[in-house]
Amino acid sequence: MLHFVSGELSRLDTPCLVFFPCENKALYQDPRIADMIEKIIQRTDFKAKSGEEIFLYDIEKIQARRILLVGLGKYEKINRETLRASAGKAVKHCIHKNIVSVTICPPDPEPMNLDAPSIHESLMEGAVLANYIFDQYKKEKKHKPLKQIGCYSPTPPHEKIRKLAAYVETVCRGAHLARQWVNMPPNDKRPDQFVKSIQEAAKKENLRISIFNEKALQKQGMAGILAVGSGSRSRPQMIILEYFPPSPAGSRRKLKTVSLVGKGVTFDSGGINLKPTDGLSDMKLDISGAAAVAAALITISRLKLNLRVVGVIPVVENMPSGDAVRPGDIIETFSGKTVEIANTDAEGRLILIDAMSYAEKIYKPDVMIDLATLTGACMVALGEKIAGLFSPDDELAEFILVSGEKIHERCWKMPLPEDYKDLLKSDVADIKNVGSSRYAGAVTAALFLKEFVKTARWAHIDIAGPAYNKKESDYCPAGGTGFGVRLIVDVIQQLSSFKRD
Ligand code: BES
Ligand code: ZN
Ligand code: ZN
Repeated sequence: MLHFVSGELSRLDTPCLVFFPCENKALYQDPRIADMIEKIIQRTDFKAKSGEEIFLYDIEKIQARRILLVGLGKYEKINRETLRASAGKAVKHCIHKNIVSVTICPPDPEPMNLDAPSIHESLMEGAVLANYIFDQYKKEKKHKPLKQIGCYSPTPPHEKIRKLAAYVETVCRGAHLARQWVNMPPNDKRPDQFVKSIQEAAKKENLRISIFNEKALQKQGMAGILAVGSGSRSRPQMIILEYFPPSPAGSRRKLKTVSLVGKGVTFDSGGINLKPTDGLSDMKLDISGAAAVAAALITISRLKLNLRVVGVIPVVENMPSGDAVRPGDIIETFSGKTVEIANTDAEGRLILIDAMSYAEKIYKPDVMIDLATLTGACMVALGEKIAGLFSPDDELAEFILVSGEKIHERCWKMPLPEDYKDLLKSDVADIKNVGSSRYAGAVTAALFLKEFVKTARWAHIDIAGPAYNKKESDYCPAGGTGFGVRLIVDVIQQLSSFKRD
């Protein structure tokens, strides 16, 4: 779908050529393009402001059927994210006009403070990420995603940039896959269906798949997962995806193992602590951690990354019923610790601790990262676009922060204060699943998880805010965003070249 187009620009036979001019600097060095842009800015209302766009037809000496200009705004404000956003807008405009394919023309690196690979990568990312529509449930499909996205280069690009196109397409397809799972309605992704869907997708890749049904969970003593799933007719499960890297011949380097754990609550009603109407309607989003982990593993396998990665995904539906877990129940979790379930709506942490303890015991990961739409409190703290990052390991946290900044899946480091642990003290069990204060809900949730981590370098990412778009953004429609897939893939790449002393 994403490919490079080379040759004489004026002779390109394409339905749409896209340029990205800015307000106060000429970004295209080819004098014909620079002149054309200059004239349009002089003769029309288009001033290349951020978000401005203009379609032009019948351009002299240009074979392309139309030209689209998308303004980048002030030169000083251009960065990777403004490029992603602009390419995303261009693709959305073209989709709305039912254009089937576009060729984007990146500005030249010379006048920019970004290098050519960063410019190409960002534009391609924005374009591919925006090329997604969730219309499976609509009888009338008004628009279709573009069939082709071309990236123009006057001469065939060198190897490094060509490989980038394949890389960007693979990673963005991973994000689309995660969005797809999140967007599925909760009646079509109950635990058995969701696990099957992950299995189907993973089967085509080089991944080892293990599925734990309810009986297997009982045998293992995964009381956290079983308790949360007890109210639903679709029984709880856990799916594990293992990726083995192609081992370089003769290398004795012991490959590190990373374990990823994703919260998979296919619908979070709150259980007996039923959520109010307002909080309920979007609760299909509560599989976002699971979707990101499954899609990341599939992507990691497609990219053949050089690190062993294991994804552990507990999947349940949190429903009230005569069999549902009650507030006040005490369970003995896989770790051996007992938990007082003070609130059945704090269910994510109960399934995560069993999955995390299992991952540590069986796979002995050096690094363990969990992703979860864990708390509304994290959204209160950081809003809808930034994830909460919790880790006692500053070095690991830094890797995640750096990746997040680079790919614009932003994380903000939050504290894990020792003394707040007291808020989780239970009179009747080893620990309770909610803090006894109405404040710092995201922090007490992370502290609860921390109590179950033994030796791995661990980070917890609360993605309750950025996992889901209430309104469409520049390169993502309303609904699941796929947050976490690109982040994890980038982190895994950093970790695979990192040597532990
Ligand atoms: N799935 C929710 C968290 C959530 C809320 C995600 C809004 C996305 C949007 C989680 O299971 C939950 O219900 N958390 C409770 C915890 C409370 C009972 C301590 C919350 O945040 O209110
Ligand atoms: Zn809940
Ligand atoms: Zn939840």
